This record gives sequence, C-alpha cells and structure tokens, in this order.
Amino acid sequence: MGKLYVFDHPLIQHKLSYIRDKNTGTKEFRQLVNEVAALMAFEVTRDLPLKEVEIETPVEKATVKKLSGKKLGLVPILRAGLGMVDGIIDLIPAAKVGHVGLYRDPKTLMPVEYYVKLPSDVEERDFLVLDPMLATGGSAVEAINSLKKRGAKNIKLLCICGAPEGVKAVQDAHSDVDIYLAALDEKLNDHGYIVPGLGDAGDRLFGTK
Ligand code: PRP
Ligand code: URA
Repeated sequence: MGKLYVFDHPLIQHKLSYIRDKNTGTKEFRQLVNEVAALMAFEVTRDLPLKEVEIETPVEKATVKKLSGKKLGLVPILRAGLGMVDGIIDLIPAAKVGHVGLYRDPKTLMPVEYYVKLPSDVEERDFLVLDPMLATGGSAVEAINSLKKRGAKNIKLLCICGAPEGVKAVQDAHSDVDIYLAALDEKLNDHGYIVPGLGDAGDRLFGTK
C-alpha cells in the first residue's frame, strides 16, 4: 500500500489556518496555497539523487553536490491544481508541467476528463500530481490512471486537504502511489465537500463564486 504522509510542520499548519479561513480573500488565498505547496515540495523531494561535481569557488577547487538530473514532471489537476504549480516550479525550475483536466459531476461526484497534455517523455519522468483537495478521491484516481495509461511509472500525489475516504480510494486503486497532505481532515459532507476543509478550492483560487 502507498504511504500517507501528513505534514505537521508549524509553517505549513500556520499558513493552512489562513487558507481555511472563509475571510481570506482570493489574492492571499492564492499566495498561501503556493507557499504551502512549496513547503510540501521541499520535503517530498528529499530523496532526489545527487551527484558530486568539481567546481572552483573564489578560494579553491571544491567537490560539491548537484541534482543528478532526474527528470520531474508536475501535473496539476485542473483547475485547482494550478494553484500549486508556481510555488513548486520556483524551487524546481527544470520540472516540466503536464495538465489533466477533470471536473466532478455535481450530481454523481464522478470525475469527467476533458483535457490531457503531458510532456512527451512521460516514461522517463517522475511525476507529482497536484490538487489542493482529495475528497472522494475520484479525481486523483482518474488523473493517476490517465498518467499511467500514457506510460508514467513513478507518481506521488500532493494535496493540501484530504478526507479519509479519498486517501482510501487512492490507496485501493494505486498501491504504488504515496500521498502527501498538509492536513487529514475529518470526513466528507453530503455534498462531497471536505469537513472542515477550505470550501471550493477552484472558486477561492480564481474568484469564480
Ligand atoms: C475539485 C478539486 C478536486 C476535486 C476533488 O475540483 O479541485 O479536483 O474536486 O474531489 P474528488 O476527490 O471527490 O474527486 P472540481 O471538480 O470542483 O473542479 P475545479 O477544480 O475545476 O473547480
Ligand atoms: N472540491 C473542493 O474544491 N472542495 C471540497 O471540499 C471537495 C471537493
């Protein structure tokens, strides 16, 4: 089964308190989502391989460590996943960005795919799938299916708020995918919203309510 990591870092928890607050406006919400995504990515990339290289400092030659060139891909689930991209790409500018467009049918809560565009070298990349919300898990399961169908092998899922139902759905469908959350919330309500959650992530990011 894929592992579940829930970040208890004080900076993440502090920023999340503002993200959850209904009085936080769009501009601040967008900035905070990016900041939390960056802090999460810092930890998620801890196992990236390094190689030793020789450089010259202004003082003398030195052997230093650089990333060994592992190829990374970020895949935001549209729309709300877009809110996490900038924060992460600032840290990992060489990552390529693919997109999976899914929306949740409001009646059935089932994901409907409407767009997929991935880097051409899918098979060579490790992917971080991004979505602030892991509710029923339908969208994440479908996005990961979509990546695997196109050849992706190594996938991690990064979400800000997750419900136990969503975690279970991803673990059941994709036992090779580790899940990283800023918070594991209590449950889903009757409309499939995460409780206490943060509301509709897409609407709060893009001001569409
Ligand atoms: C939201 C959210 C996730 C999905 C989570 O997207 O951003 O993608 O719901 O729910 P699930 O785990 O039950 O699938 P939504 O369908 O509202 O689309 P949007 O991002 O375009 O607003
Ligand atoms: N999608 C959201 O944006 N929020 C939720 O709580 C659940 C799904």
